[in-house]
Amino acid sequence: MTKIVVTGRIPEVGLDALRGVEIDGEPANVWVWDHDYPAPTEVRDAQLADAIGAVTLVTDQVDGAFLYAAPNLRIVANAAVGFNNIDVDACTARKVRVTNTPGVLTDATADLAMGLVLMVTRRLGEGERLIRSGTAWKWGMSMMLGTGLQGRRLGIAGMGSIGTALADRAKAFGMEIAYHNRNEVDAEVADRLKAIRLSKEELLATSDIVSLNCPYTPDTHHLIDSKALESMRSDAFLVNTARGAIVDEAALVEALATGQIAGAALDVFEREPEVHPGLLDRDNVVLIPHLGSATVETRNAMASLAAKNVAAFLTTGEPITPVN
Ligand code: GLV
Repeated sequence: MTKIVVTGRIPEVGLDALRGVEIDGEPANVWVWDHDYPAPTEVRDAQLADAIGAVTLVTDQVDGAFLYAAPNLRIVANAAVGFNNIDVDACTARKVRVTNTPGVLTDATADLAMGLVLMVTRRLGEGERLIRSGTAWKWGMSMMLGTGLQGRRLGIAGMGSIGTALADRAKAFGMEIAYHNRNEVDAEVADRLKAIRLSKEELLATSDIVSLNCPYTPDTHHLIDSKALESMRSDAFLVNTARGAIVDEAALVEALATGQIAGAALDVFEREPEVHPGLLDRDNVVLIPHLGSATVETRNAMASLAAKNVAAFLTTGEPITPVN
């Protein structure tokens, strides 16, 4: 019987799609760890032993140990746009196909990034904390002033679909768009956004807000290190909705402590779910728990696409959104 392992809780729509997969007239046997925390390794590995497919989450490490536990595995469908949690080379060497869920979380993540831009520049978290603390306050002309967005430069590191969707939002707020990317964006997109392409150094030195929207790879590990932070303006903000380890978190803490940059808004962390203690008590820092794709609609779409990848691969030999 075709066994598919789902390593954590996913929306029902994804499970239904997996249960509907029929191989040689027989429905797939779907095992799911129906919790929002990972299964003990021995429980997971016992299930992987005879699995042909696995639906994995961003919190899983699909590494040598995972693959060793799953000798019959043929497809890993990661329910995430990132696949830095998967050793793709090891999967390829083992003839295991890998898929992700591009496209379906673009808007949700761009919305959240724009939300963080607003939170950090308008001091919304700080304002919330003030009221909830019960501290007396009164409206005042100079109370809790923030930074307006109109005419400011948003520097996007990684101008893929999420970076572009963020740029579209920021443009509606009257921002100027600059980006750093390996390739030029399409002429139509560049034209619509009036976006300028800059070197990493120029982007950091001239942006009012730097937003990280690139994948996490060996090349982008600590892309924002102490040198990068030094080159940012002292009134600039950093926003990270991509992956925590793109930022050297200790260097960021230092840069915030010494006033090298004006603030930061982070949805992702270097040692997630741990957060560097130096970030916790800073009022100019916004911290949220990896919520980029966390809408009902988006999580349903991610689970559906992951399930469709497994189904397509098992029935036609080719997944919909292959990584390898
Ligand atoms: C979430 O972080 C994702 O990569 O989908």
